[in-house]
Order: sequence, then C-alpha cells, then structure tokens
Amino acid sequence: MKVLITGATGLIGSQIVKDCIKSNISVNFLTTSKKKITRSKMVNGFYWNPKNKIIDLDCFKGVDSIIALSGSSISKLWTKSNKRKIINSRVEALEFLKESINKNNIPVKRLVSASGVSLYPDSLEKEFSENQTNSDDSFLAEVINRWENAAKSFKTIGVDVAIIRIGLVLSLESGVLKETIKPMNFGFGVIFGSGNQYQSWIHIEDISKLFIFVLEKKLKGIYNGVSPNFIKNSEFTKIISSVHSIAMFNIKIPRIFFSIIFGEMHVLLFKSHKISSRKIQDEGFSFKFDNLKDAVENLIG
Ligand SMILES: NC(=O)c1ccc[n+]([C@@H]2O[C@H](COP(=O)([O-])OP(=O)(O)OC[C@H]3O[C@@H](n4cnc5c(N)ncnc54)[C@H](OP(=O)(O)O)[C@@H]3O)[C@@H](O)[C@H]2O)c1
Repeated sequence: MKVLITGATGLIGSQIVKDCIKSNISVNFLTTSKKKITRSKMVNGFYWNPKNKIIDLDCFKGVDSIIALSGSSISKLWTKSNKRKIINSRVEALEFLKESINKNNIPVKRLVSASGVSLYPDSLEKEFSENQTNSDDSFLAEVINRWENAAKSFKTIGVDVAIIRIGLVLSLESGVLKETIKPMNFGFGVIFGSGNQYQSWIHIEDISKLFIFVLEKKLKGIYNGVSPNFIKNSEFTKIISSVHSIAMFNIKIPRIFFSIIFGEMHVLLFKSHKISSRKIQDEGFSFKFDNLKDAVENLIG
C-alpha cells in the first residue's frame, strides 16, 4: 500500500509516517516547505502550494489513499488574517487536492481527513457521539463544518471518505501537554478557571494508530479520535503535576485573565467536551493508553 499524506511534517503526521514505515506502508508526502522535502526508499516528499495552485503530480504515483492533515496552527492569535489562514489551509488545500485528482484522473480510492472535536457544543453534562449534528456558532465550529464539507465533497469524484474528529493530542513535542508542563517547571500547575470543563484527550501513539486502522480497515464516515476517558481540566492538571515531580502546587487562574491575553482564542482552554470513543472501539480499535496517568507517565517518565 502507498499513502499520500498532507501535513506529514507536523506533530501527528510525523508519528503517522513513522508508524506507516513500521506497517510496511510506503509514504509520499506533500509539503508547502521545499526545505522539508526528503527522499528515501519508503518516504518521499513533494512540493505543493495550494494557495497558488502548484502541485508536483509525481506525488500521486502508485498512491491509492490519502491522509489529509494540513492546516495552519489554531494557537496563533485569531486576527482576521490568521482566521483566513486557518480556514484556507484546510478548506482550499482539500479543494485543490480534489481538483488535481479529478483533472488528472488519478485513481485514488479513499481519503482519511483530520477534523476536530471543537465542532461539538460546549457542555458540562452531555456526552457527544459522532451523530451529533448541531454545532455552536463559534469560529472553530465554522472552520470544522467547512473543513468536513470539503472532505465529504471527495465523494462526488468517487473517493470514499473517513473523517477523524481529533481531541487534544498528548505529546512532548508540542501541544497541550508541553504547554501544561511549562509553568510546572517553575513549581506550579495552572487550572483554567473553575477547572470543571471536560477535556477529551488522546496519546500521540493512539491517534496515529487510529488513522492507520481506519485506512487499513477501509472505514467510511466520521469517527472521534479521543481516548475513552475524558477528564476535568482540574484533574488533568493535577495528574500531570503529580507525574511531573517539580510541580509543588496548582493554582486556579480566572477566565477573565485568559480572555484579556488571548481574546476570542481563550475558548480553546474553556470549552467543555465529553466525547465518546465508542464508535471506533466497536469497529475493533483498542487504545494503548486509555488512562491519563499512564499516558503522561509514558510521555514524561
Ligand atoms: N494536535 C492536536 O491536538 C489536534 C487536535 C485537533 C485537530 N488537529 C488537526 O490535525 C491536523 C494535524 O495536527 P498537528 O498537530 O499535526 O498540526 P501541526 O503540527 O501544526 O502540522 C500541520 C501541518 O500542516 C501544514 N501546514 C501548515 N500551514 C499550512 C498552510 N498554510 N497550507 C497548507 N499546509 C499547511 C504543515 O506542513 P508543511 O509545512 O509540510 O506543509 C504542518 O506540518 C491539523 O489540521 C490540526 O488542526 C490537531
């Protein structure tokens, strides 16, 4: 099997590339940065620039499936220009990929596209599964609706589509765990506001394994990419603190502080998401890390 991956040089993509090699799946990847292009027996990089509609068509040679991960970071201040980048790097990139496949009669059979759990409404009580259709009117929900619609539109050119709604990915390279640990290096952990909001997380190894599982099992439709055990933010910080022995205590910092510093983007820290992993487990997927303490010990220890 040979898969084409966009966004392969990022946090999740780099792990998927490593795991594809282990599973004997060859990888072509598209990068917007020429200096990230590498070539080897199993992994070969190609240049693209979705904004200017440039793509090296050799990237499709021998490829029957695509994993789409590309997207400009959502953790930059949500200025008008950054919001445009966040949307275009996902929606236009997918639309351009589809146009290239269609115009050049490339025989791609399936697309597995990244998405996010921020589509689900903020709730302290309700647990959401993939068939939840209502989202709220937040910026991220708009991004994800447009992103998923762009992915689903591949069906019109005969490509099977699977979408993975990813939760908070735990890794020491970047993301929520790295940011949570930063203040702990100065002796304290930070709890966001009351800390009662739920967080749905997944270990980096499990999210990579989940993408490859969906690809190999040829699954279609939407799947949540979260571990089975969501947790309150206060517990999340306490567990990380307890594993990270330098942290002495945890402090609650009020929401207003984050809203002044981060503006609209502060919702990233305060949205409450209890997300179900049942659907992918019912397909036979098993998590290596379903308990936060084990996941953190594995990464920090
Ligand atoms: N990590 C999480 O906790 C999480 C949670 C939910 C959803 N997701 C989504 O999953 C995807 C992968 O996440 P990640 O954490 O691996 O992200 P990441 O580390 O930021 O990597 C994203 C990749 O997208 C490409 N990219 C950046 N700007 C781009 C642009 N303007 N146009 C086209 N491509 C661009 C880059 O690859 P090149 O430089 O090689 O082009 C980059 O390596 C993202 O779309 C993200 O939103 C992640």
